[in-house]
Amino acid sequence: MKVLNYSWSDFIEGLKVPSVVFEFLNRAKVWATKMGQFLYLAGGPVRDVLLGRQTQDIDLVLEGSWESLLSTLSKEIEFKIISKSQFLTYKLSLNSLYVLDLVTARKEFYPSPASLPVVARGSFIEDIHRRDFTINALIYGLTPPYEDKILDLVEGLSDLKKGLIRPLHQNSFIDDPTRAFRGVRYKVRFNFSYTEEFNKALELAAKISSFKKLSPSRLAQELKLFFTKEAMEALPTLLRDLQNLRLLQRVGLKERRIKSSDFNLLRKAKEELDSKNFEKFVRLFLVELEETTLKRLAFSDRERALILKWAQFLREVESSLQDLSILERVELLEKIPPFLLFRLGLEEKWEDTIELFWDHWRKVKPAVTGEELKALGIKEGKVIGSILKRLRQEKLEGRLTTIEEERAFVRNLIFPKS
Ligand code: CTP
Repeated sequence: MKVLNYSWSDFIEGLKVPSVVFEFLNRAKVWATKMGQFLYLAGGPVRDVLLGRQTQDIDLVLEGSWESLLSTLSKEIEFKIISKSQFLTYKLSLNSLYVLDLVTARKEFYPSPASLPVVARGSFIEDIHRRDFTINALIYGLTPPYEDKILDLVEGLSDLKKGLIRPLHQNSFIDDPTRAFRGVRYKVRFNFSYTEEFNKALELAAKISSFKKLSPSRLAQELKLFFTKEAMEALPTLLRDLQNLRLLQRVGLKERRIKSSDFNLLRKAKEELDSKNFEKFVRLFLVELEETTLKRLAFSDRERALILKWAQFLREVESSLQDLSILERVELLEKIPPFLLFRLGLEEKWEDTIELFWDHWRKVKPAVTGEELKALGIKEGKVIGSILKRLRQEKLEGRLTTIEEERAFVRNLIFPKS
């Protein structure tokens, strides 16, 4: 075991966390020491402090019982337990601002390839050995016997220095194929390299079809992280690596050919779609729209039917779409949910129409309101609807610009000059 001294003040400075987190860590450190329980930070925070990078999540691990430590801490610090999972972990919110992951040191056992692990309390050593990569298996002790020390049981420090992505053992991806995807993200995020062990673990998992056994929801969740946790600029490289390692194929997805302009649409989707639509859009970004692939990506029966119906419909009307008026095209496209619209916008033949629709057409609405039409003596109902529709059509086709022009148009409709 390698031990590296690292002072708490230096570590906390490198961690760059807000004062509420600092306060919580400090109090937890004091009380865990008094209770004689080993408390440590593991994985991401240790790796990121050593790399001099901002860390995203903080995993605080206790070799002991969080229940009693939390009950003591609750007398001194305000926090809210958001969730408690079957895997002996808690999610805690501090000041409703910051979420902290509290983990119980544990050992894991995978009953079958790609299944969720069976978890039991374990020692910190077992907790280190259950992890994915050597660079994620470093821990920093907050309490004795390893207070202010980085512990390295797996050559993680050396791999971090050399920039290597090495799984802890060769069956790692058989147990949990999501790790291969995680490995790609770390490799690209830090500009590291894969080791021979990484490739070996990949081949072994593929050989016994472990990738195919990964559940649709876990696969979808893992792919989402490429688009939500990693920098947008890194995506072309991330996707190229996925392709080189044939990971999408290995999990049973039909890949789509991605062109460089697709990344512009991806950036736009990130800016313009709400998180639910964006999450569905990215699930579709990498793949062909076909039944097996959609099923594999955890789209429900209803969603699959909807996606396939629209893809098919647009394919059928492809040549006749230009014959429709702009209004007819707009009314058609308005029926398509945004996530799917963006996905269809990735197809070359739809690119221009959908871009025009999203950026311009869908926003064109008459300035004259239904109320104004009622004030002119038109009865509520179908007629108002059809006048507003005519106005929209005229505006879309560029024949009306100002509200005065709209009003004149309406007057002319109601009282045509003979
Ligand atoms: N882990 C694992 N196998 C997984 C997921 C997670 O072994 N399939 C372990 C890793 O050791 C990881 C830790 O659990 O370090 C916490 O996971 P996560 O929060 O997802 O990763 P971080 O290490 O925090 O890295 P980052 O969030 O920066 O990607």
